[in-house]
Order: sequence, then structure tokens, then C-alpha cells
Amino acid sequence: MTSTENSAGTMSSTGALRVLVAYASRFGSTRGVAERIAATIGRGGHRVELQVCGDGLDVSAYDAVVFGSAVFNQRWLPEGDEFVQRNIDALASRPVWLFSVGTFGDRKRLIGPLVKREPTGIREVQRSIRPRDYRVFAGVIDRHQWPFLSRLFYHALGGRLGDNRDWREIDEWAGVVGHALRLEARRLEHG
Ligand SMILES: Cc1cc2nc3c(=O)[nH]c(=O)nc-3n(C[C@H](O)[C@H](O)[C@H](O)COP(=O)(O)O)c2cc1C
Repeated sequence: MTSTENSAGTMSSTGALRVLVAYASRFGSTRGVAERIAATIGRGGHRVELQVCGDGLDVSAYDAVVFGSAVFNQRWLPEGDEFVQRNIDALASRPVWLFSVGTFGDRKRLIGPLVKREPTGIREVQRSIRPRDYRVFAGVIDRHQWPFLSRLFYHALGGRLGDNRDWREIDEWAGVVGHALRLEARRLEHG
């Protein structure tokens, strides 16, 4: 193994990391978040691949992984869950960042810390993978997708319909991930 390789042996000769940004999205808002994160990380000079979960997506060819799924009924989408469980050992041995897209973001006053408990099983996933960070971003709330009573409850908690994605917050997070990846690349390069 040369000084520019990591344990997966995937680092390129230019010192750029191969980064996978994987996502699971039903209606497209999580895809949008993943695209934005991939673009920001890509500007930092890394070789970023954006991939939708499914078809046996495998992380072994990448140096680092960012993964996010939409939350529905307190669960990640099945293809997201399946991706994480199938790659759990490989994810545990790489730098990984996780995010969820749900009704409220984790910075929402009072409710924020509660949504960090979603999806069901996130604590176990965090224990197994030890991600560098886990964030929950607010997504898109379409009135037609929500039954009347749920909408009432949502309004009562201070939620509003529409696209609640906070691009500044997402960009900031992606910037932090990009910075950590640059440090990681330098660490691998200098052994
Ligand atoms: C039927 C339904 C169930 C949902 N359940 C949850 C939930 O349990 N927790 C949550 O935070 N958000 C929930 N949401 C909100 C979605 O996560 C949000 O709309 C997200 O932006 C969808 O992502 P996507 O566009 O990538 O599919 C739900 C939305 C719908 C329509």
C-alpha cells in the first residue's frame, strides 16, 4: 500500500478522495439535498459520485460516504435501510456522514432534538458505523400528501406547508464535510 492509499486502496494519485453521496428519496426532496451536498463537496476537488440507493450499491470502491434518506412513518426508506445494513462493515471502516430529511429539522426550536431520534433504529446505526456526524434536515411538506388531522397537528407544532429545505444550513454542513475530507486526504497523503 502506498502513502496515498487508504485501507480500501482507492485514493487516486492526485490525492483526491473518492466520495460517494448516496440517497433514498420518494418524492425528490432528499435527492435535491443530496445533489446540493455532492456539488459542494465536488467543488473542494474530490471525486464525488452521486448515486441513488438500490441495485446492490456497494461502498467498497470509495474512501468516504455521505448517506441520506427521507423519513416516512418514522423509518428511512426501505432501500436506504437495506443499503446501510448491507454495507455496515464497510461503512464502519470509512469516514461516513449521515443525514435524514423529514418534517422538521434538528435545529427547530424544542422539536429539533426530538427528531434526531428518527428514524427508528438510528441509534443502533450510529453505534455500528460511528458516523462523523448525523443531521436531520427539514424537507418538503405537500398538503396533498397529508391527511387533514396530521396537517392540523403539524400546524399546531409550528410547521408550515411547502419547501422547508434550508439551503444555507445544508450548504454549511456540506462545507464542514468537505473540510473534513480535505483533512482526511492530507492525513492519508502524509501517512
Ligand atoms: C405519508 C408521509 C409520512 C411521513 N412521515 C414522516 C415521519 O415519520 N417523520 C418525519 O420527520 N417526516 C415524515 N414525513 C415528511 C417527509 O419526510 C418529507 O416530506 C420529505 O421531504 C420527503 O422526502 P422525499 O421528497 O425525498 O421523498 C412524512 C411524509 C409523508 C407524506
